[in-house]
Amino acid sequence: MKTRTPIFIYIIIVVGLTIMAFEMFTENSSYFMSPFFWILLLIVMILMIILNSIGDLIENEHFKNISDEERQLFIKEKSTPYFTKLWNSAFTKQSQSDEKDILIDHGFDGITELDNSLPKWWIGLFYFGMGFCAVYMFAFTFTDYAHPDAEYDEEARMQIASIAEYEKNAPTVNIETAKYSADNILEGEQIFKTNCVSCHAEAGKGGIGPNLTDKHWINIKEKSLFKNIFWMLENGSPNNPAMRPFIKEGTISGRDAEKIAAYIYHINQEKDPVTQAAGGAAPQGQIAVWE
Ligand code: HEC
Repeated sequence: MKTRTPIFIYIIIVVGLTIMAFEMFTENSSYFMSPFFWILLLIVMILMIILNSIGDLIENEHFKNISDEERQLFIKEKSTPYFTKLWNSAFTKQSQSDEKDILIDHGFDGITELDNSLPKWWIGLFYFGMGFCAVYMFAFTFTDYAHPDAEYDEEARMQIASIAEYEKNAPTVNIETAKYSADNILEGEQIFKTNCVSCHAEAGKGGIGPNLTDKHWINIKEKSLFKNIFWMLENGSPNNPAMRPFIKEGTISGRDAEKIAAYIYHINQEKDPVTQAAGGAAPQGQIAVWE
């Protein structure tokens, strides 16, 4: 007669599976606060205890009908702690007579094969894997659980929210407060590539829009070059609607404009003018003298 797996093992497994199901099917971990979750756990545990009591009754009935020898063996086994038994079962080898029973009938050249039963932990893991697979497939197909699109949307939403939060608290940059900083050049170049390259060409060499690397300017609205670029981004060109008021229409923020202006200032003033002139569009407007 075999001893049964103790109830606490079943309780751990069932509680674990319940938490796993809740993790998969609910949006966040707030189920921990829900009375529904705890009542469910309680019901599940009461059911386990009832099942265990039925098991006890059956075991007692069985116990009455076995031989004395088997009884001794059963009592001895029952007094060994569960984990000790589990540990031992991984290392015990069957006796010669046991081996005879499980010898498979197809030896060759003296090599024979035993039909050993698989270790319990292995079978447990196997069934757990199958159960998990079924629950996972169901969750993946019918809920948002582990869905790449849903996770992407959620992350994008959170990022946009955190950007909005940042914009709300960060001081705004306008033509009065904007300042040139060499730290902004690299970032400015990236924003320039996204918004301006289509007209002003790579590195501001000029195309539909004028060459931004030469000394000639069509629009001279401010005394300093940096502020003049900012002015253009804020107001657009009074002569040509192709150059839009990027800040006013909301395409870029004042902070972005501060960075782009740093970049254009850099390619106009700090880079070698000879290399800049090579392949660039012909100058337009008049020679500007900046402060
Ligand atoms: C759709 C095409 C187009 C786009 C996109 C564009 N521009 Fe322009 N830009 C122009 C044109 C055309 C002019 C010339 C306006 C004029 O004749 O007054 C101009 C003029 C300018 C000037 C003044 C040049 C001068 O000589 O007066 C600056 C500075 C400038 N753009 C910067 C930018 C920046 C920075 C961006 C990106 C945020 C940008 N532009 C995007 C077409 C464009």
